[in-house]
Amino acid sequence: MVDGGHKAFGWAAKNESGVLSPFHFSRRENGENDVTVKILFCGVCHSDLHTIKNHWGISRYPIVPGHEIVGIATKVGKNVTKFKEGDRVGVGVIIGSCQSCESCNQDLENYCSKLVFTYNSRSSDGTRNQGGYSDVIVVDHRFVLRFPDGLPSDAGAPLLCAGITVYSPMKYYGMTEDSGKHLGVSGLGHIAVKIGKAFGLRVTVISRSSEKEREAIDRLGADAFLVTTDSQKMKDAVGTMDFIMDTVSAEHSLLPLFSLLNVNGKLVMLGLPEKPLELPIFPLVSGRKMVGGSQIGGMKETQEMLEFCAKHNIVSDIELIKMSDINSAMDRLARSDVRYRFVIDVANSLSPASVISCDIKEHVDHEVSVMSRF
Ligand SMILES: NC(=O)c1ccc[n+]([C@@H]2O[C@H](COP(=O)([O-])OP(=O)(O)OC[C@H]3O[C@@H](n4cnc5c(N)ncnc54)[C@H](OP(=O)(O)O)[C@@H]3O)[C@@H](O)[C@H]2O)c1
Ligand SMILES: [Zn+2]
Ligand SMILES: [Zn+2]
Repeated sequence: MVDGGHKAFGWAAKNESGVLSPFHFSRRENGENDVTVKILFCGVCHSDLHTIKNHWGISRYPIVPGHEIVGIATKVGKNVTKFKEGDRVGVGVIIGSCQSCESCNQDLENYCSKLVFTYNSRSSDGTRNQGGYSDVIVVDHRFVLRFPDGLPSDAGAPLLCAGITVYSPMKYYGMTEDSGKHLGVSGLGHIAVKIGKAFGLRVTVISRSSEKEREAIDRLGADAFLVTTDSQKMKDAVGTMDFIMDTVSAEHSLLPLFSLLNVNGKLVMLGLPEKPLELPIFPLVSGRKMVGGSQIGGMKETQEMLEFCAKHNIVSDIELIKMSDINSAMDRLARSDVRYRFVIDVANSLSPASVISCDIKEHVDHEVSVMSRF
């Protein structure tokens, strides 16, 4: 026991290099409103990468990232009626909010000024919160989700961030009201393609290269694929889209996106590049266009999204990795070299024992390679 809590083990970034390595820490004891979750799988979101490398200037180390968590409830507090031991549950981007402000009262905890993120944050008692690249997490039951039977634990995990991040603005910005509207998805956001299709939208992927074209159409179900460097195709597509969701993680120009929008079109910003983007005013004004933003979703809507995805067989396309593969996976994520989300097989690859054997193996490999040079 450490600090009156119980022992936990995960992989943490210790500084801005963002390199993750084994880390022992403690979780609070399960309180009367809490659920203790044995973590099975955790998705790897680009926000994890932004945070471990301190792109946003708000990182406090050490940080165990991870906010697309699926696991099994192993303990529930006495006030918890919605979950029981053995239930499959999910934990997403937020684990706390004030529960009394206007946003909280409207099931919009995601916009509460006191919202608590799953990692790189502090709880009201001052303890540092750590995320899902770890064996166990203790969460207030109001921030735990039922994970529907129809959803697989591994490919379903990314819905807890990537899924709700695109589902919520589709509803809020009116994309689901009339079917057949045209949605452009910039920066792939592959779950946006799938959820958009399930809502009856016509979906075009907007990407920097044609590399992902066949997959986007054949596997993800996109109607069309637009390469931003193909000037003729970009010209042909001017004014054809009603909505664009921009999930790009890096600095980029908004001008081409505005030109693709029709009069009254809406550009919804979801990606979180580290620097502000330039806002071109003329195309905005001359077409009565709108630019808005959206941050994940509230707990009620997140539960609704999970049920929606289970009903429509929507899961993420994933590359399942071991915990010890995480640093090379982060390098690949930084180069957009992932189809389409890494998910860590936490339960089968994270244990102090496996770390020791992996360290030993690396050591042995090193010895062999050093010896072979002589
Ligand atoms: N609003 C929210 O609530 C919320 C929630 C989760 C994540 N996010 C943010 O959303 C962003 C995307 O997250 P993710 O996990 O989906 O990341 P991701 O899988 O790495 O996807 C980012 C995409 O951006 C595109 N891209 C990267 N660099 C680019 C550049 N220089 N110019 C143009 N396009 C570029 C790539 O698409 P192509 O290769 O197809 O061009 C890539 O697929 C991150 O900034 C993340 O922090 C926001
Ligand atoms: Zn995320
Ligand atoms: Zn609140």
